Amino acid sequence: MNALPENVKERFKYYEPDGRTFARFDPESPLPPEVEPTDRYEAHLGLQAIPTLPLLPSSVPVLNALLSRLVNVLGFRSMAGPLLQEWMPANLSRLQPDKFSDEYFVERRLNGFNPGKLNRVEGQEWQYAVHYKTGRYKTKPGGLLPEYSEARFILKDRALQVHSIDYSLKDQTIVCFPTDGQDWEDAKYYFRSAEYVFQEIQSHLGRTHMNMDQYAMAFYRNIDRNPIRELLLPHFEGLLNIDKKGASLIIGNTGFIPQASALDSDSVNAVLTEELTTLTYHWSPATQALPDPIDNNYFDPAALAMWELLEEYVAAFFSNNQPDIQANWDEVVAMSQDLVSHSILDPAIGTLEIKDEADLQKLCVYVIYHCTFFHSWVNNKQYEDGGDIEYTAIGLWDKDDPSYDPKLVQERHDNQVKLMWTLANVRYNPALESAPLPLKRLLWKHQDRISPGIPLDWIMMSINI
Ligand SMILES: [Fe+2]
Repeated sequence: MNALPENVKERFKYYEPDGRTFARFDPESPLPPEVEPTDRYEAHLGLQAIPTLPLLPSSVPVLNALLSRLVNVLGFRSMAGPLLQEWMPANLSRLQPDKFSDEYFVERRLNGFNPGKLNRVEGQEWQYAVHYKTGRYKTKPGGLLPEYSEARFILKDRALQVHSIDYSLKDQTIVCFPTDGQDWEDAKYYFRSAEYVFQEIQSHLGRTHMNMDQYAMAFYRNIDRNPIRELLLPHFEGLLNIDKKGASLIIGNTGFIPQASALDSDSVNAVLTEELTTLTYHWSPATQALPDPIDNNYFDPAALAMWELLEEYVAAFFSNNQPDIQANWDEVVAMSQDLVSHSILDPAIGTLEIKDEADLQKLCVYVIYHCTFFHSWVNNKQYEDGGDIEYTAIGLWDKDDPSYDPKLVQERHDNQVKLMWTLANVRYNPALESAPLPLKRLLWKHQDRISPGIPLDWIMMSINI
């Protein structure tokens, strides 16, 4: 008998608007008490968010007096103000000898906040390319976003060198080379901005937050006595809470991405939905790993090591819990039904159905990989790349457009830097501290393959920010 409370499906209610959307918790519904954030989580959030908030509302004279007293007596100031961008702690690009160098450009395509995007190319002068296509989405008036942008790379002596960037802007097609002076710098800046938009929508929100939301929903609604509850529960902590908040903070009409980028809210949703039609747990990082050895490719070895160690970890868990997993298989059948009936996966790619124990193991590896390693990579590196407007901005605005408003642009850029800081720095439940012992041991064992790409202590247990 299933011991889940009878109303569990009403409390964990899917978002079901009129149009087609991806499977997730309905952000309009109250959060069920068991998935509400803990006080410790709120404290962690406060610790990183406070420096970027005005200390007190400036319109309240009494509070203002108190604020100046605090400033005078304690010498304590907020980061908010006209010099915010200058005052924020240095990010990785600000620490580079030359953040605009071509070497750094290559390094970040391999190991930056949007990894796994390089594709092998045949029959060209270049061997690898990263391509972003934005032309099919609507941009806001005055927004500058290339309709497409492709960076190309030559493979030479186990290293990549940038060859050229081909992009289209305001109906003009431009091919730039490293010898093209300022035009080349502009091409890289436009490319980085297009990459940023797609990093946030596809890799961060799509592949991690919203993709995992559909598994969390099917899990909470159906899994109770099956031992996989113990295996997966710590990796879902905080996910529905942050996705509910993110629905208005990040992607809604007034959310960060539609506000700060050149894409409007409908376009952001369209990119997100399209990405989710391609995502299935029948996947592994080996499918996208670069086929050639490249000395400073740290993402692929780390991703492959993480995948392998999770396969080992999950297989051991299954063999230790085999009879109870089978005895409670009815819950897995119900989970599978929820997954399939709410999924928007392109049927040409497959189905999310869990047919047998091998499927369930695969699903567990995939979920834990995304909730730990992959989210930690794309989330915690956001400030490294997005914390410096000179280096990259999620939205670029045309100074020649009549709608150009320098104050609004500054506000958008300030918001970018503040949000990136907070999102990248809330480090709640590092796996090295909170994971079950067998997982901790495996992480330490594979440290030499993982940590050149991401420090081991940056890998969190769950998607909670
Ligand atoms: Fe995140």
